[in-house]
Amino acid sequence: MSGPLSVFRDNVLSGHVALVTGGGTGICRGIAAAYARLGADVCIVSRKQDVLDAAARELSEQSGRTVIGVAADVRNPDAIAAAIRTTIDRFGKLDTVVNGAAGNFLAPAAALSPNGFKTVIDIDLLGTFNTSRAAFEALSASGDALILNISATLHYHGTPLQVHASAAKAGVDAVTKNLAVEWGRFRIRVCGIAPGPIAETEGMKRLAPGEVTEKMAAAIPAARFGTIEEIAAAAVYLRSPAAGYVTGHVLVVDGGHCVATPPLGMAFPT
Ligand code: COA
Repeated sequence: MSGPLSVFRDNVLSGHVALVTGGGTGICRGIAAAYARLGADVCIVSRKQDVLDAAARELSEQSGRTVIGVAADVRNPDAIAAAIRTTIDRFGKLDTVVNGAAGNFLAPAAALSPNGFKTVIDIDLLGTFNTSRAAFEALSASGDALILNISATLHYHGTPLQVHASAAKAGVDAVTKNLAVEWGRFRIRVCGIAPGPIAETEGMKRLAPGEVTEKMAAAIPAARFGTIEEIAAAAVYLRSPAAGYVTGHVLVVDGGHCVATPPLGMAFPT
């Protein structure tokens, strides 16, 4: 194994069972892949069964672990509860939930319909709550559980064309803190990852196409986009015993993007 995940022991997640919403594609597929590669059995959840079937087959082949795909919309509490039951029926327990299912698009606030705003809140924020709540009983029985919420850095400042997603992700970070406080006594840690601009993701393709991408990369202190594997490595760290006393924390993985405030009109020194 090479790359960021190579620092982890091969079987560090052996015996773990994880459910990853949004795990059919992008960052969350990368997290599911990393968990399986390091020994976990995984259920990936999203709306499209054909996408899940293909991803589950590939991840199983790559890892030698069992990866299953169960279609459910996180906006539907009954559907997500059924996906959790299927996971437990198949694997006997549940230790980790990654809340990664998200929807987004660029839209000026003045032209965004109330239903457009609500749709993204429903998927990102309500979906995170629905899944966490439905998993609570199973996670309480784990003895070493983690809820990992994938948010963003959009809401650390105002972000143009993203009022809906910024509000949703701010809410997700609030859920992370509040559940950490309420559920710590049940041995459930609740953490977040806030990815910056990550290459090869649906979000970057849709939200920052073409020349915008190059300008964004130049504005990142690390002078490049992150990789899906770098987010997956953070997700493995937070899942691992190395993070056993970390809860209520959102780990920013963004190459320094959100702390950079270059004076207007000035480039970073080369
Ligand atoms: N700009 C403005 N409004 C939009 C929009 C866009 N690009 N896309 C959707 N909306 C609005 C719709 O107009 C609708 O509001 P209305 O009823 O007032 O017209 C509302 O959002 C719901 O849209 P709909 O397509 O019915 O919702 P959906 O549940 O089928 O899908 C998304 C919603 C966000 C998942 C969809 O936009 C999508 O498929 N996005 C691409 C996948 C994605 O987001 N990946 C993650 C990238 S980070």
